[in-house]
Amino acid sequence: MTNLSFGMEHTAEDVTQGLDLSGRRFVVTGCNSGLGYETCRVLALRGATIVGLARSIDRAQNALDELSIDGTAVACDLGNLHSVAAAVDSIRKLGPVHGLIANAGVMALPELRQIEGYELQFFTNHIGHFALVTGLIDSLAADGRVVMLSSGAHKMAPEAGIEFDNLSGERGYDAWKAYGQSKLANLMFAGSLAKRFEGSSRTANSVHPGVIDTNLGRHVPNRAEMYERLKPHLKTIAQGASTQCLVATHPSLASVSGLYFSDNQPLEPGHPMAQDDETAERLWLESEAICCP
Ligand SMILES: NC(=O)c1ccc[n+]([C@@H]2O[C@H](COP(=O)([O-])OP(=O)(O)OC[C@H]3O[C@@H](n4cnc5c(N)ncnc54)[C@H](OP(=O)(O)O)[C@@H]3O)[C@@H](O)[C@H]2O)c1
Repeated sequence: MTNLSFGMEHTAEDVTQGLDLSGRRFVVTGCNSGLGYETCRVLALRGATIVGLARSIDRAQNALDELSIDGTAVACDLGNLHSVAAAVDSIRKLGPVHGLIANAGVMALPELRQIEGYELQFFTNHIGHFALVTGLIDSLAADGRVVMLSSGAHKMAPEAGIEFDNLSGERGYDAWKAYGQSKLANLMFAGSLAKRFEGSSRTANSVHPGVIDTNLGRHVPNRAEMYERLKPHLKTIAQGASTQCLVATHPSLASVSGLYFSDNQPLEPGHPMAQDDETAERLWLESEAICCP
C-alpha cells in the first residue's frame, strides 16, 4: 500500500479527486441521508453508475432525483429479509458491481426493539447487510470492493464481542452496547469476507467515518447535548463520507483487504474480540442460519 496522504480534514471530493469511475457500478445502502447521500453525490461526480438503496423506493428515487443522478433506485428495508432478497434479485440483473458500500444504519434505540426476535440494531445493521452482501457476492466484479460501515462505537460492544446467547437483546438491554455489538459485527463480517476473498482481487474492509451530526443521532434522548460535547471532534458530512469513498475507490487500495480504516488511514480495531477468528466464523454461521432458517 502506498502511503495515503489523506487525513480527517479531507472530504470525499478530496480523496476521489482526479478519479474516473465511469463504467463502474456502486451499490450504496442508506442513499437518502447523511453519509450515504454524500457518497452517492461524490461517486456520481466522478462518473460512477449509482445504485441507491433506501428502505422504500420513493426515498431512494427522491434522493437520486435531488442529486440529479441518473442511477437505479432500489427498495431495500434491511429490517425485512424479503425486501433484502427482492433488492438482491433486482441488483443482480443490472450487471457487475464494482463497489458495495454497506452504509445504512440505526443507532442507540433507547428501548429494546426486535425484528423476528432479534435486537433491532443487530438485525438492521448486521443481518440485513449480511443478507444483501452475501446475496450479491456472485455479482461482485473480479476487482469488486465491499466496504462495511462500522464505527468507533464497536468498542462499546459487550466483553464477549458478540453475545450469541442474547441476540434477542432481552438480557440487560443497553442502547450503546447493542449499537456497539452491531458495529463490531459489521467489522468482523468485513474481516470474514476478506478471508473468503483471499487469492482473488476482491477486497473487503470496514470503516469508522468519524463523528458527524446526521439523522443517526435521532434516537439519542440528549442529542443536542451529545453533539455539543463532541463539537471539537465533529466532522462535516463531506469529511465524514471521505473514508468510505477512499476505501471503495482509491487505486492505492486495490489489493488492501481485511483492514479497518478511520480518518482515511488504516487503524487497529479497538475491541479485544475484533480480530478473533473463531467468533467471526461463528457470527458468519449464525447469520447464515438467521437468513436461511
Ligand atoms: N454519523 C456518525 O457520527 C457515524 C459515526 C460512526 C459510524 N456511522 C455509521 O455511518 C453510517 C451512516 O450513518 P449516517 O450518519 O449517514 O446516518 P443517517 O443520516 O441516519 O443515515 C442512515 C441511513 O440508514 C438508513 N436506514 C436505517 N434503517 C434502515 C432500514 N431498516 N432499512 C434501510 N435503510 C435503513 C436510513 O434510512 P431512513 O432515513 O429511511 O431512516 C438512512 O438512509 C451508519 O452505518 C452509521 O452507523 C456514523
